[in-house]
Amino acid sequence: MSEKAGDARLEMETLVSLSKRRGFVFQSSEIYGGLGGFWDYGPLGVELKNNIKRAWWKAVVQERDDIVGLDASILMNPRVWVASGHVDTFADPMVDCRECKKRFRADDLQGRVAAGVHGHVAEGGVIRCPECGGELTEPRMFNLMFKTFVGPVEDQASTAYLRPETAQGMFANFDNVLTATRRKLPFGMAQIGKAFRNEITPGNFIFRDREFEQMEIEYFVKPGTDEEWHQHWVEARRNWYLGLGIREENLRVRRLDKDELAHYAKDTYEVEYLFPMGWSELEGIANRTDFDLRRHTEFSGRQLTYYDEGSGEHIVPYVIEPSAGVDRCFLAVLFDSYHEETVRGEKRVLLRLHPSLAPVKVAVLPLSRHESLVPPARKVWELLRPHWMTQYDDSQSIGRRYRRQDEVGTPCCVTIDFDTLEDQAVTIRERDSMDQVRVPTAGLVEALRERLPNV
Ligand code: GAP
Repeated sequence: MSEKAGDARLEMETLVSLSKRRGFVFQSSEIYGGLGGFWDYGPLGVELKNNIKRAWWKAVVQERDDIVGLDASILMNPRVWVASGHVDTFADPMVDCRECKKRFRADDLQGRVAAGVHGHVAEGGVIRCPECGGELTEPRMFNLMFKTFVGPVEDQASTAYLRPETAQGMFANFDNVLTATRRKLPFGMAQIGKAFRNEITPGNFIFRDREFEQMEIEYFVKPGTDEEWHQHWVEARRNWYLGLGIREENLRVRRLDKDELAHYAKDTYEVEYLFPMGWSELEGIANRTDFDLRRHTEFSGRQLTYYDEGSGEHIVPYVIEPSAGVDRCFLAVLFDSYHEETVRGEKRVLLRLHPSLAPVKVAVLPLSRHESLVPPARKVWELLRPHWMTQYDDSQSIGRRYRRQDEVGTPCCVTIDFDTLEDQAVTIRERDSMDQVRVPTAGLVEALRERLPNV
């Protein structure tokens, strides 16, 4: 066996094609030509996505004693977004090409010209269209929030926004959660949910979308302890990605420069992954100070403070915010697990997914469709279904079926053959090593549990 890729840089196109072919990700409303920046997760994609979210929730809510969960609504009172600063500042500079009518982010073009990226040129200091060289319009600020109307009348008073981040639902519920749970500082809230941004240039498959999912924590701490907690979270979040099996050489933490910080942040670190388009953000971990709680106190008239029994004072906690994208984590996991090998002269593609993330944990494969194999194979399938997400596959040769399962990252296959009829034993075949071992059906669940610990 010779190993080739996994280390070689993989093209985005390879994953886009695998994702469509095997049912991970489809273009949204593809039969109508799609809609830019929107994607649908197919039967295997939804499993992988749920597994990522489950792993995150387990690490930050279930296994910690200082974080509680929340599921806030997507549409909120529009004043939330005035208080948060999104109505005034959540905007990108946009330019259009006068010739080909393509649209770009002005700051993106400036960066690309400075970096000498192919096609991005400035003549006499004037940046031109990277597609056709045409003249660009002056930059106009473009707010990224999607608007809609609540109720039957479409006017200014009924305007609402699809949330561009889940965070504000947690700040708006600060007092409710504190009262309901009687938490002491430091404590946090965690939330997973959809967010929407009318990105000027969505792209790189599911990396930059207009509809995406976030996994966010707002961790409230005493002012003065914020920098220490910030370091704690940077380390904890980096370790979480490593624990999912992301290779260390493809992961880095970068501290943002002052001019890169969002309007609310005192300091921010990014966890970045080495995608084919270069190092790109998976997660931002920001020190938001007391900005949000103070702003919501000011705009709502409700005191969002914490009574500190030690000092007998009401204080406004500082916030450390680890904010991750589910879709970006999904993409990184796919890239990192993708391998190509040559086995007995043939290419084998496999996803070396961590068992906890694999969409299907066990595939049940009768050696053939011979009628005598169907009852024992179905019985094995019934035995396993309550324990794991499984798949039954009896079409084409056994070799082909192993390859199909490898390509979607299934850690274990169970094969039922003619000997099973005599000895009530089956074969477990492991994805990565391709090792095969024969076990009695009566001990199959235990034998698989050993290979799928904590799954
Ligand atoms: N509450 C802070 C916040 O929303 P952000 O850096 O704008 O910060 C956090 O977003 C994370 O959400 C990013 O690190 C990224 O993983 C994900 N994200 C942001 N915009 C996205 C987009 N257009 N498509 C996919 N994921 C996105």
